[in-house]
Amino acid sequence: MTLQEQQVAELEEQALGEIGQAATPEEVEQLRVKYLGRKGRLTLILRGLKDLPPEERKLVGRKANQAKEALEAALTQALRTLKEEALRAAAVREIDVTLPGRRHPLGRIHPLTRIMEEICDIFQRLGFEAVEGPEVELDWYNFEALNIPPDHPARDMQDTFYFNDRVLLRTHTSPMQIRVMEQRRPPVRIIAPGKVYRRDLDMTHSPMFHQVEGLLVDRDVTFADLKGVLTEFVHQLFGPEVGLRFRPSYFPFTEPSAEVDIACVICRGEGCRVCKATGWLEVLGAGMVHPAVFEAVGYDPEEFTGFAFGLGVERFAMLKYGIDDIRLFFENDLRFLKQF
Ligand code: FA5
Repeated sequence: MTLQEQQVAELEEQALGEIGQAATPEEVEQLRVKYLGRKGRLTLILRGLKDLPPEERKLVGRKANQAKEALEAALTQALRTLKEEALRAAAVREIDVTLPGRRHPLGRIHPLTRIMEEICDIFQRLGFEAVEGPEVELDWYNFEALNIPPDHPARDMQDTFYFNDRVLLRTHTSPMQIRVMEQRRPPVRIIAPGKVYRRDLDMTHSPMFHQVEGLLVDRDVTFADLKGVLTEFVHQLFGPEVGLRFRPSYFPFTEPSAEVDIACVICRGEGCRVCKATGWLEVLGAGMVHPAVFEAVGYDPEEFTGFAFGLGVERFAMLKYGIDDIRLFFENDLRFLKQF
């Protein structure tokens, strides 16, 4: 390496060191002038090249040009780094740590979830255990074991969504009666809350809705026990003054059967859209477990008796909150849901 080349290398090293130390954009600019300005130290070397012998000119020229490129790159990089640091520092200054935090909006419990919890709480206090089961159900549990054979006209009472001949969406929670009795011996005292599905849609009917099934089986259970439990339940939910009535009805899996109506709390019995001007809203079906159902699960109907009921959760929610259209529960309009 020639003496000149050596000088260029030392100059480059010194300049890079100084650029690395620069603390402000102004200092970077001063270094640019010092080394690459019109009278800059490297500029002067480059200008002096023409006075060197050709061989040396070539070597020193290459070295000096490389140094110039290296310095330019280092200056640009130093400027960029300093600007980024300045921006970051400014951002930190603008965060006012004394401001109060922003609250995340709190969601609310859906009115159906709330009433479902209330219903289950009441029955659990009365000694019923809550159990759950499948929404995709076998024909056997939904119909056959409940004393509804394939051609039974009662199948028309519940318009069914079928997957195939054997598999369907359960139309009620009553299949849980069979599933539980298959597994246990009396005494049985359960409720089974859950979703059910029917081809049904109007102000008081939804294609998906919720039921709570109840089943109590033991020795010497009577219809009076059924009436007592359901009356106590309705009084705990709505208060002791609310009107309720048992109407004779028909279900293939109970005998005798009844439907229970509650005095319409929306119109107070005057007659409105919800109670279809009758002053009453049907909220549940019930009855004494049919001997054929006991036989399907291997219980002796001579030894045991029991009652069952299936209540429509949406109907209770409509009465409890004064809602006159069942579809509001499922539209997820926040203006509606925020009221609860
Ligand atoms: C049944 O589903 C029987 N499994 C009830 C039962 C259980 C009877 C145990 C005897 C023993 P029903 O189809 O009537 O019965 O329905 C029961 C309740 O569900 C009705 O009283 C009503 O409150 C509610 N319900 C019925 N269809 C709908 C619907 N499409 N939308 C909302 N609620 C409904």
